Amino acid sequence: MSRVYVAYSLPEDILRPLISKVEVEVWPGEEPVPRDELLASVAGCDGLLSMITTRVDEELLAAAPNLRVVSQMAVGVDNIDMAACESRGVLVGHTPDVLTETVADTAFALLATSVRRLAEGARVVTMGEWGPWNPWFLLGGDLHGITLGIVGMGRIGQAIHRRAAGFQMRVLYSNPTRRQVPGASQVDLATLLAESDALVLSAPLNDDTRGMIGAAQLKAMKPTAHLVNVARGPLVQTADLVEALTKGWIAGAALDVTDPEPLPADHPLLELDNCLVVPHIGSASVATRRAMAELAVANLIAGLDGDPMPARFPSS
Ligand code: GLV
Repeated sequence: MSRVYVAYSLPEDILRPLISKVEVEVWPGEEPVPRDELLASVAGCDGLLSMITTRVDEELLAAAPNLRVVSQMAVGVDNIDMAACESRGVLVGHTPDVLTETVADTAFALLATSVRRLAEGARVVTMGEWGPWNPWFLLGGDLHGITLGIVGMGRIGQAIHRRAAGFQMRVLYSNPTRRQVPGASQVDLATLLAESDALVLSAPLNDDTRGMIGAAQLKAMKPTAHLVNVARGPLVQTADLVEALTKGWIAGAALDVTDPEPLPADHPLLELDNCLVVPHIGSASVATRRAMAELAVANLIAGLDGDPMPARFPSS
């Protein structure tokens, strides 16, 4: 009988199809499984159901010589050494599509919150600093009619673009390959930075995107612009972002992801009124997280059975 290790507990009804076919061990902890425990647990396993906190590298693959399938419960797979998996013939699955609309919702919520200064307003109220109405208090930007720049026009970028139409936005985007997205214009990064009133990052983390938003790029943005990141923290050079927000190179930022993650409570980003940070919850709706878990289980079963995975990475 095949053996699989599941790196975080999942609802029992979702695990049932797996449990009926293979021997399943589930990490029961609330925190990510400690590395030593993970390496020991995968030793005799044919399959691994991984989270973004599960580093799948040469060390892990060497510790799990029987491993045939890694099924990640996330769309991003930057925690997985794809070249190492490929060279050992280990199949990788992930969970695209099922989370696209939820992450786009989160991107829009962050965008609205930053542009309309809602978190700052809420903080004023809870701090007891809400004084008499003042016509010039907490003025922000508008959401409607702005130029929205999208970095990474994949599934999530396109879902963000669909939402932008409802706010009469002009949409520009950059993407490494040519895309036909009606109603949006593909431009180079320099143009995107210069023209966008808000920039949303929805690109995967890889060698080309790591650190792509640093001091030079932030200085190239409008001083009234906002930055939203729903992709991966390391796309942005954090120290440069702190400087940009402190010195007014840009007006504000709203981040679902940061580098490092989790962000320590005393991190300088958290001292800034014009920066909102939420704890990597872009896809965290009840329905979407269930759908992701179901797809991760389905990928794992298909991979172990030698059937085509519903969502293999890369897709072809
Ligand atoms: C979450 O960050 C994901 O990649 O799905």
